[in-house]
Amino acid sequence: MNLGVRLSGIELRNPFLLASGVLGETGESMLRVWNAGAGGVVTKSIGLSPREGYPNPVIVVLPHGLLNAMGLPGPGIEEFAEEVRTAVEGGAVVIGSVFGAGPDEFARLARRMEEYGVSAVELNLSCPHARGYGMEVGIDPEMVREIVEAVKSAVGIPVWAKLTPNVADIRPIVEAASGADAIVLMNTLRAMAIDIRARRPVLSNVFGGYSGPAVKPVGVRLVYEAYEVTDKPIIGVGGVTTGEDVAEYLMAGASAVQVGSAVYYRGVEVFRLLAIELSHIMEEEGFSTVQEMVGLAHG
Ligand SMILES: Cc1cc2nc3c(=O)[nH]c(=O)nc-3n(C[C@H](O)[C@H](O)[C@H](O)COP(=O)(O)O)c2cc1C
Repeated sequence: MNLGVRLSGIELRNPFLLASGVLGETGESMLRVWNAGAGGVVTKSIGLSPREGYPNPVIVVLPHGLLNAMGLPGPGIEEFAEEVRTAVEGGAVVIGSVFGAGPDEFARLARRMEEYGVSAVELNLSCPHARGYGMEVGIDPEMVREIVEAVKSAVGIPVWAKLTPNVADIRPIVEAASGADAIVLMNTLRAMAIDIRARRPVLSNVFGGYSGPAVKPVGVRLVYEAYEVTDKPIIGVGGVTTGEDVAEYLMAGASAVQVGSAVYYRGVEVFRLLAIELSHIMEEEGFSTVQEMVGLAHG
């Protein structure tokens, strides 16, 4: 079965990309995921300067998903050059994820990523727990519009806008981001867990982002709503674990998906397994291309 898709002008061998923050920290780990069959890999989100991230604990495994507040740790954009180049030179389709405090910072970071050879840049407009970044910018449609415009005029590669689920109505944010070449939905859901014995929040940062199987219906709903207000391709993220999940996102309106927590649940083999599982569904349901499934739930 041919699972190839064309997404914002990029040819992908299949619609399953590695989501940002999961094995996207080094060139070697990105190549491992690429060689395991991913259609592309999104880097860990990178900012201008090195950041330590929060003290432990930064991740908790809950019964139906993962809760994390890493604090966007990373080496900063200059140091990260080598990791991106390793993955690009190894043949992977690499999407560079960046976060910044405003339009100028995002534009500078995106230009750097373009120099490093990435196929597209993903704007993290949505981290639910990084102070000064992420949510504060991602819930303000005007700020989203300004950042997307600044980056679009700074680079020639496709620009993807990754949005937050943590708003009452996603549609104004999607409309504000529609100057981008693709919309990515969603980042994690703002959440917390409490250790009842210690009588304290589990995460050092108190609040974190919830991901994995439990959040899939929220992601599917957001993709469905976004599809109704934008003509841009949508990339579905949140709880994708099996081929059925992929089919559900496609029918909601996604042209491709990203896979994060499922790497924890099924290992890097998840990409090969998703290809097998989606192919079976397509055979059973009589689809010969992935594109035919996109948006079908809209009637
Ligand atoms: C440990 C961890 C770290 C993450 N770091 C980032 C990040 O740096 N940038 C980003 O845009 N999203 C980050 N995310 C969010 C994921 O990319 C994805 O949007 C979210 O986890 C939902 O997908 P999933 O259910 O497949 O994990 C992170 C998620 C996890 C679990």
